[in-house]
Amino acid sequence: MKIAILPGDGIGHEIIAEAVKVLNALELDLELEYADVGGTAYDKHGHPLPEHTLNLALSADAVLFGAVGDWKYDKLERHLRPEQAILGLRKALGLYANFRPAICYKELVNASSLKPELVAGLDILLIRELTGDIYFGTPRGRRTAEDGHFPGTEEAFDTMRYSRPEIERIAHTAFQAAQKRSKRLTSVDKNNVLETSQLWKDVVVEVAKEYPDVELDHMLVDNAAMQLVKAPKKFDVVVTGNMFGDILSDEAAMLTGSIGMLPSASLNDKNQGLYEPSHGSAPDIAGQGIANPLATILSAAMMLRFSLNQEAAATRIEAAVQKVLEQGLRTVDIWSEGTTKVSTAEMGDAVVAAL
Ligand code: IPM
Ligand code: MG
Repeated sequence: MKIAILPGDGIGHEIIAEAVKVLNALELDLELEYADVGGTAYDKHGHPLPEHTLNLALSADAVLFGAVGDWKYDKLERHLRPEQAILGLRKALGLYANFRPAICYKELVNASSLKPELVAGLDILLIRELTGDIYFGTPRGRRTAEDGHFPGTEEAFDTMRYSRPEIERIAHTAFQAAQKRSKRLTSVDKNNVLETSQLWKDVVVEVAKEYPDVELDHMLVDNAAMQLVKAPKKFDVVVTGNMFGDILSDEAAMLTGSIGMLPSASLNDKNQGLYEPSHGSAPDIAGQGIANPLATILSAAMMLRFSLNQEAAATRIEAAVQKVLEQGLRTVDIWSEGTTKVSTAEMGDAVVAAL
């Protein structure tokens, strides 16, 4: 089993090091190969997603990804910015199905900005379509406006697009995920305004006929944003498009107390996947050894489960994470009075010990 390890920028290196510690401790037959990505790759090779890195990712069974981005690259042309590496990998590998679970561990109930009774026991699976929508839709660009409110002035435009097969496949993914959980699925769109959302809803309703055991409901995205902070436990599996999923997944992450706890998986139809924490590269705290490695360690568990068929190993990691939380060990982002503050490396060591 070959895994491409792409630490990226900022805290990426620190958190990936701990996930690799955990993988090595499992003593599975894994071949780990490292490559540069993001701003680090731009500095060394002149491109955020060098050909070598892309080829490694394409040839691997799975990619374990840290994080990319740093303010110092903000002035680069868009195609050279670190974020293009992750977008390029999603596109090149066809990773259309993004799983973002938001689980509130009972030990961390007080770390959430919401009242404990609203989030205790929270367990949402947000499924985000990842290779379509306004993120990748063409045409896009800048030009002189020919019509609109201010003809003759500069304008910029992006295109929100979804095709029927793109919606069908993510809908199947979502219904099947719901079948494995509480058999409830919420599809989020903006069909009262957008054509893409009307097609989204129509197709989801059609696909639903194949899953009579799943209870489907629809919610407009603005209402979904509100319900997520009003009564988050009403949700179980949520499916939505690329852009709405980007926004709602950050919101869902915060319900759990810290974005430092949330793993993610992005899969294609061959179950090849890219696994990364839901948080970013946090350049402001990079190099200090205080970042929370648990999201990355939990992403490695998802990788073992979804792409490497190692369910038992995945469950072991998740149980070990649960155990270190029970032991009261906390990185600074989840620390509270009465618990023990640990560094990034100490947290990784504790997970290995708990294994
Ligand atoms: C995410 C991130 C990315 C996205 C950025 C880094 C391009 O916010 O994975 O949610 O917008 O998809
Ligand atoms: Mg995002």
